[in-house]
Amino acid sequence: MAVRRLAEKHLQPESFAFTPENLAWAKQQIAKYPEGRQASAVIPLLMRAQEQGGGWLSEPAMRVVGEMLDMAPIRIYEIATFYTQFQLQPVGRKGHIQVCGTTPCMLRGAGALIEVCKRRIHEHPFHLSADGNFSWEEVECAGACVNAPMVQVVKDVYEDLTPETLEKILDALARGEKPKTGPQNGRRAAEPITGQCALVSPELFDGSMVGKGAGLAAAREAIAARAAGEPLPKPPEPAAAAAPPAPPKSDPAPAKPPAAAAVKAAGEADHGKVGGSKAKSD
Ligand code: FES
Repeated sequence: MAVRRLAEKHLQPESFAFTPENLAWAKQQIAKYPEGRQASAVIPLLMRAQEQGGGWLSEPAMRVVGEMLDMAPIRIYEIATFYTQFQLQPVGRKGHIQVCGTTPCMLRGAGALIEVCKRRIHEHPFHLSADGNFSWEEVECAGACVNAPMVQVVKDVYEDLTPETLEKILDALARGEKPKTGPQNGRRAAEPITGQCALVSPELFDGSMVGKGAGLAAAREAIAARAAGEPLPKPPEPAAAAAPPAPPKSDPAPAKPPAAAAVKAAGEADHGKVGGSKAKSD
């Protein structure tokens, strides 16, 4: 994980202003929050400022967002330097590759993906490739560990990668294409590569067991019958709903808990005061 600092002064633009469309959008976001809670819009506004700024967040952009939300600049710097979704210096025009380097991804080959980035983009992270199209960095877990190893490119994630599939993704991005996101090894979502193998019975999802009081035993019967090619057993009819028993009329009302001694004494003293002043006014 690299130290996250704002870009050096010579890289920072003189100023920043949202485009009219982005400004209108930003005002809509701010209006979603109750009075006094406008700072909650800080993440979406910073993201939009980053997108408008060519994929990275300049210091003038942070100031503008801070002014819009009535937040001190340091509060904005804290947020922007904490989240790796925010880029603090210029990144590749066609993609900034964030390679997850946390344990599950490392165990599944993230080191080889980093070697691809070093060879294809630059020896060092946060440096632009010779054509300015790409940059890369290693990040902490991006939340797709089950499909490790993975990379994130702006808002898209590419999972179950090998050095070869990462190369293909870089080629596609270089051509200006948008590669298919998600697993790159043919599996669907986070299912096993051989396909879904749990919770596959339609009875679990088609509603046929709902309200029948069928339970697991009946579901198993239906699954076994289908496997044997037999007609499905009829689910049992629901039992008549029994009304809850009415409480016996003779039940006494629950006793109130006794007041604590100190509370009781204070109450009596107050009562005495009220009574005293009433007596005087009478
Ligand atoms: S460890 Fe790589 S996505 Fe979680």
